[in-house]
Amino acid sequence: MPAIYSYAPAKAILFGEHAVVYGQPAIAIPIHELRTKVTIHALTQAAPGFDKVISPAIGLDAEITTLDAGNPIAKTVDLIKSHFGITALPACQIQIQSTIPVGCGLGSGAAVAVATLRALSSFLGHPLPDEEVNRYAFEVEKLHHKTPSGIDNTVITYGKPVFYEHGHDISFLKIIHPIDLVIANSGVKVRTSETVLQVQKNHEIDPITYSTYFRSIGDLSQQARSMLENGETGNLGDLMTENQSILSKMGLSTSKLDELIKIVLTNGATGAKLTGGGGGGFIIAMVDEQTKDNVYAALISAGATNVHKIRLEKQL
Ligand code: PMV
Repeated sequence: MPAIYSYAPAKAILFGEHAVVYGQPAIAIPIHELRTKVTIHALTQAAPGFDKVISPAIGLDAEITTLDAGNPIAKTVDLIKSHFGITALPACQIQIQSTIPVGCGLGSGAAVAVATLRALSSFLGHPLPDEEVNRYAFEVEKLHHKTPSGIDNTVITYGKPVFYEHGHDISFLKIIHPIDLVIANSGVKVRTSETVLQVQKNHEIDPITYSTYFRSIGDLSQQARSMLENGETGNLGDLMTENQSILSKMGLSTSKLDELIKIVLTNGATGAKLTGGGGGGFIIAMVDEQTKDNVYAALISAGATNVHKIRLEKQL
């Protein structure tokens, strides 16, 4: 039997992280330049239930039965087994390869879940529809984030820009003009569950201020949506920088993120912010055809890692 494989992209949040957990809208885009590939090899000589997972990026090479119940791969396999009403998978090896940096706010966990759900369901002869993939990937996200908004699994499952509000129907964004962006890693890994908890505590201590922050961020997402859908994106960078200043007041930026943002702004980006949970991870900068190479080069010479030029293509 030939190997079965599936891909899933990375993602970046353009507007609205954290506020989205409190019911505000957010905008996320897939990053097709970075992706996870999951390959399933049938182990024809082994008995059903002998399933292995190999993920060199995180040094994992194990039998699935030896993983903790809280392991995302073990959870994904359990979800697949219960969906198909089977007690064991045919013997197989699940191989995970990824160019998405782990634990940096680019959705690596959701990408692994989505690609694994697709690959395993295809391996069983019944590829899951997107709605099921999204629903199950959300269950796996709960292991990573505890109280995920669902934005990561949604944008990664559908591979299209989304305007996301928890509990609402998914709304895909129209993009009238392609958008150029640059992303770079601050080099610090953070668990999103930690920054989400930090925001939750601060919100409990000062609900009035934090509710105002969340609403202001939600307004920025709404404004950004109109700009993208009307093709009037001239001020989109300013909205990004405004979003960053609120995230910074919420204590989610770091000196390294601030330094990278300053570099991109002084080298031609029209706006920039952290993307994802914050406290480390990536920045995202709004650039154009003329400025993207300059911004990219400035980040490289400042020693930033995982610097990528991203193009958000027209989407009608
Ligand atoms: O996985 P990350 O780091 O991109 O964070 C997702 C964005 C948050 O709003 C911080 C959490 C969530 O569940 O939406």
